[in-house]
Amino acid sequence: MADPVGTPLPYGRQWIDEDDVAAVSAALRGDWLTTGPEVAAFEAELAAREGVAGAVAVSSGTAALHLAYEAAGVGPGTEVVTSPLTFAATANAALYLGATPRFVDVEPTTGTLDPEAAEAATRATTRVWAPVDYAGHPADYEALSALTARHGVALIADACHSLGARYRGRSPAQWADAAVHSFHPVKAIATGEGGAILSDRREWCERAARLRSHGVVRDPEAQEEHGPWYYEIRELGFNYRIPDVLCALGRSQLAKLPRFLERRRAIATRYLDAFAAEDRLELPALAPDVDPAWHLFVLRVREAKRRRPLFEGLLARGIGAQLHYPPLTRQPLYRERGLASTPCPHAEDFAARALSIPLFPAMTDGDVERVVDEVSRAARELL
Ligand SMILES: Cc1ncc(COP(=O)(O)O)c(C=O)c1O
Repeated sequence: MADPVGTPLPYGRQWIDEDDVAAVSAALRGDWLTTGPEVAAFEAELAAREGVAGAVAVSSGTAALHLAYEAAGVGPGTEVVTSPLTFAATANAALYLGATPRFVDVEPTTGTLDPEAAEAATRATTRVWAPVDYAGHPADYEALSALTARHGVALIADACHSLGARYRGRSPAQWADAAVHSFHPVKAIATGEGGAILSDRREWCERAARLRSHGVVRDPEAQEEHGPWYYEIRELGFNYRIPDVLCALGRSQLAKLPRFLERRRAIATRYLDAFAAEDRLELPALAPDVDPAWHLFVLRVREAKRRRPLFEGLLARGIGAQLHYPPLTRQPLYRERGLASTPCPHAEDFAARALSIPLFPAMTDGDVERVVDEVSRAARELL
């Protein structure tokens, strides 16, 4: 892709074509800017694509997490068990509801939630397990769904990295009680800001749709009695609506998701092949029966202290890298609230050695080869 001179290749970015521009223009010429027919159509297409009955599109992945947790009964005095190897939103959505995020360790190879660690942290007040499909690799849904069913806990997949991924042929939304997605520009499809809750649970979808718009309900019988203007607000909701214009973009992007995923897979395959013999680097591990979405390509250096020279060396060569993520258990917000007490050695080790290199579908073959050459050279010289 053509980057302005001097701008490093980013680790991720959107791919917007003329057909996306045309879809947005058509929506702008229509009657709706906020909630309109594009929202419902986007929701129907998302649900069909991920094989569930319902989807509720909202203003961000964070909003989707907040509403999904609320639908699952998260509130004061309850707990959400999750991974520290994630973006803050996964835990913050629990804090918004007055609940406690309980961080437990990840699998050492995939960086996804360790089902046994989650079980060990579960108590009577636990309402939700929120595994994160780290880098687009689905969590161990077979174990997670069996254990959450046994403990009477809801399973909410933070699938913000994994739209289109499959575990044993099923989507995260099909395995979990609900899956949450983000349409931030680096994600599988982009709407700028945007997110969605996908679920087979009709009552959860209905509740999330109500809470997305201030909890407003229109009861036809009450309207007959009081007038056509009548509506009621029975619970505290939010303005988490996503505009129609953005859903027009989302639909146009979703139609191209198979192509985006294919391109991501091809780039990841090239990297796996190119770096296979590079013993100073650990490559992403794939669990059996998993078809990942390849949101990120996360390398791990063998020695944590060599990560920074590699990061800086790549940047000097025009290759943007990123760390996903400093573990949340290291962030002052959670430490100061006493939420970082359970040791998570695998997440710590992962985060100390990880580095995401560029992977996005708009990369040209030339970009990919440049990354291969520069990473190989930097690994030889700097590790
Ligand atoms: C794992 C994970 N969860 C949640 C979110 C929040 O999504 P959004 O930025 O759309 O609010 C993100 C986005 O960066 C994410 O990566």
